[in-house]
Amino acid sequence: MSTDPQTQTQPKPVQHDIPSYLDPNNIGAYEIFLEQVDRVTPYLGNLAYWVETLKRPKRILVVDVPIHLDDGSVAHFEGYRVQHNTSRGPAKGGIRYHQDVNLSEVMALSAWMTIKNAAVNVPYGGGKGGIRIDPRKYSQGELERLTRRFTTEIGLIIGPEKDIPAPDVNTNPQIMAWMMDTYSMNVGRTATGVVTGKPISLGGSLGRSDATGRGVFVTGAEAMKKLGISMEGARIAVQGFGNVGNAAARIFHDHGAKIVAIQDVTGTVYSAAGIDPYKAMQHLADTGKIIGLAGTDELSRDEFWGADCDVLIPAALEKQITEANADQIKAKLIVEGANGPTIPAADDILAGRGVTVVPDVLANAGGVTVSYFEWVQDFSSFFWTEDEINQRLDRIMTEAFLSLWDVKERHGVTLRTAAYIVACTRVLEARALRGLYP
Ligand SMILES: NC(=O)c1ccc[n+]([C@@H]2O[C@H](COP(=O)([O-])OP(=O)(O)OC[C@H]3O[C@@H](n4cnc5c(N)ncnc54)[C@H](O)[C@@H]3O)[C@@H](O)[C@H]2O)c1
Repeated sequence: MSTDPQTQTQPKPVQHDIPSYLDPNNIGAYEIFLEQVDRVTPYLGNLAYWVETLKRPKRILVVDVPIHLDDGSVAHFEGYRVQHNTSRGPAKGGIRYHQDVNLSEVMALSAWMTIKNAAVNVPYGGGKGGIRIDPRKYSQGELERLTRRFTTEIGLIIGPEKDIPAPDVNTNPQIMAWMMDTYSMNVGRTATGVVTGKPISLGGSLGRSDATGRGVFVTGAEAMKKLGISMEGARIAVQGFGNVGNAAARIFHDHGAKIVAIQDVTGTVYSAAGIDPYKAMQHLADTGKIIGLAGTDELSRDEFWGADCDVLIPAALEKQITEANADQIKAKLIVEGANGPTIPAADDILAGRGVTVVPDVLANAGGVTVSYFEWVQDFSSFFWTEDEINQRLDRIMTEAFLSLWDVKERHGVTLRTAAYIVACTRVLEARALRGLYP
């Protein structure tokens, strides 16, 4: 049988089975991805022949991570690394430390990385990893031992040319430094390219720490132009005030927008007059909480979604915008800093209400784009200036936004479906050209 998509007459519709390692009654975050793939399949033409490849992660590694705690006892943690797809290049994606991490979530996050890398056309497949732990309950020494043991366990499948981790929720440049050092010790040479998001002094890239937030800003600003929302005084609500939410808030603020609401894990603050994100950062650093910030009122967690604003930036965790709150959202534009913050049913409600969503796979791709720059710089041992990095990032993000907007207009679909059309086509073209081994 020919496997050339050009010569296949009719792709056979294939029913996808839920893998036995997921609970069919509670599939978890991966279900969102499967639904997104189903939505894009009619637009893939003959490449739909290969679509099952997207529904099945290429490789999954589940590891036990035992460490000595400071009190002398031994604790065990679940660790994961999933390589969803490597058709276009090595797997690439972050490592998350969170008490709710599970296999389905890591599978979904790795799959979104496949789509994201293809949507902005960086030469990577998709991967993701995580450890099921609440890192706030552990000391730096415990986290270092955890990171080093985890890196050794997943060392079987990661490497600068195979799979390159990066920071995600609750992981940071220090954790990347420990990962890089551990991997290097195990292979007997300094391998800076094994992770990105490293400290600058260890082969990290200038501009990486703010890159995801910067990409949220660049794509958000382009969408605002399309929708006729002026940047000056635009009211922005941000959920999540970590790496992504914080940088996005600062950059929007620096360009004349007004941050009216911030929600993080500790609470929600609101001010119609605007919140200075630099003062909010200082307050968070001083008190460990966002609530109590001078000049703000406290809102309940649910009230955040109905806050009066023009642009909403979910930048915390997945499954935040659901049927329960999609109707309350007042923003005309949602720019997804987080991965998977909107479930498909909420997407439909938002589309029906005329709310534009810049999807995660485009909006938060700034991080992986500068990670790509970091990896290239590490390979060539030649480092670029911050201006060069920001200019290249802005150009890639703007071009990706405009070309996806074009596809959205042409097909009359949402920006998310447009991103999936472009990305899945790229991944499946690579799949078809490579053919099936052996
Ligand atoms: N760091 C990156 O470069 C990057 C790149 C692409 C996508 N992302 C995605 O962006 C999101 C945030 O990642 P990050 O790196 O900023 O993480 P982070 O750990 O730096 O920050 C997470 C933020 O979310 C808040 N938060 C956690 N639980 C919450 C809850 N239940 N309600 C409200 N707020 C809550 C935390 O208080 C914190 O402010 C994740 O979905 C991540 O996958 C991150």
